[in-house]
Amino acid sequence: MGWTVTDVPDLHGTTAVVTGANSGIGLETTRELARNGATVIMACRDASSAERATRNVRGDVPDADLRVESCDLASLESIREFATRLEGESVDVLINNAGTMAIPRRETEDGFETQFGVNHLGHFALTGLLLERLRTDDESNPARVVTVSSGLHERGTIDFDDLHGEGSYDGWDAYAQSKLANVLFAYELERRFRAGDANAMSVAVHPGYADTKLQFRGIEGRGTWIRTALRRFANAVFAQSAEAGALPTLYAATALDAEGGAYYGPGGLATMRGSPERQASSDRSYDRETARRLWAVSSELTGITYDLPEPAVST
Ligand SMILES: NC(=O)c1ccc[n+]([C@@H]2O[C@H](COP(=O)([O-])OP(=O)(O)OC[C@H]3O[C@@H](n4cnc5c(N)ncnc54)[C@H](OP(=O)(O)O)[C@@H]3O)[C@@H](O)[C@H]2O)c1
Repeated sequence: MGWTVTDVPDLHGTTAVVTGANSGIGLETTRELARNGATVIMACRDASSAERATRNVRGDVPDADLRVESCDLASLESIREFATRLEGESVDVLINNAGTMAIPRRETEDGFETQFGVNHLGHFALTGLLLERLRTDDESNPARVVTVSSGLHERGTIDFDDLHGEGSYDGWDAYAQSKLANVLFAYELERRFRAGDANAMSVAVHPGYADTKLQFRGIEGRGTWIRTALRRFANAVFAQSAEAGALPTLYAATALDAEGGAYYGPGGLATMRGSPERQASSDRSYDRETARRLWAVSSELTGITYDLPEPAVST
């Protein structure tokens, strides 16, 4: 029997920030963190959807300690305002979960291609701005940053010559690039935590294939009813539930034996479903030179620098 929600430890006295907490995997992650006593700060871009989500969670967990905060990852200003509102608070777990998939080319408020901007750069900025708040005195249970990637990172490359798809754009390639960036970021953050001797760790996860709104985002407003029906059918037949899709995230965020620098995903059928296990990510995701370059570019684009040392080349 693999790891399940019943294995989430007691979380009273801890605080988690979850981006995209109003829907799908973020919502289920929020529910289980709250069920086990964590205070959950739900970082969402749409207040009414987030309030609906709190009612949904409280239907299950009446005493859930939830706080909705506005955070639009497509806006550096919104991310900065969110981080400022958290000033003075401690955060035990940051879950970089929000994402969008295979959408037509659009740009964020700051002129970034939206998938790269929201899925990667927004979380890069948010994590950097919350770094000071990520602290715990418990040496045996460090603060954690969990970044939700996708199995599709395996088809991704980082196109440093055209990061924003201005030359040519394919929605799936842009998604894969952003999800590879998630893994490269998570590993590089872990190396910097180690180099800075921080009481914190960084973990990457993927949820397999879970039935959420994600699969419909790319066809919103342009999909024929046939496309929508096919996606619904595929989700009904092949996908696991959003609850099951949240397990790798919950494992990485709470299990005492979860390891910094690891990549966790479902261990069942084609890594699309099942209990979380440690897995290998793509060869490209382990390339330290790409990770270092991506970090530098992300810092330049967002204007966010981390108070952490660069890892030595050999570490
Ligand atoms: N479901 C899967 O099979 C699957 C597979 C691989 C990876 N993933 C990853 O899992 C994560 C969660 O996705 P999901 O499946 O739960 O999809 P989902 O139900 O569509 O949820 C995505 C969440 O991201 C939020 N979001 C999108 N753009 C945002 C922005 N600009 N600012 C703030 N929040 C924003 C959405 O908010 P709104 O509701 O306001 O739009 C929503 O809360 C994503 O990172 C995704 O790449 C999912």
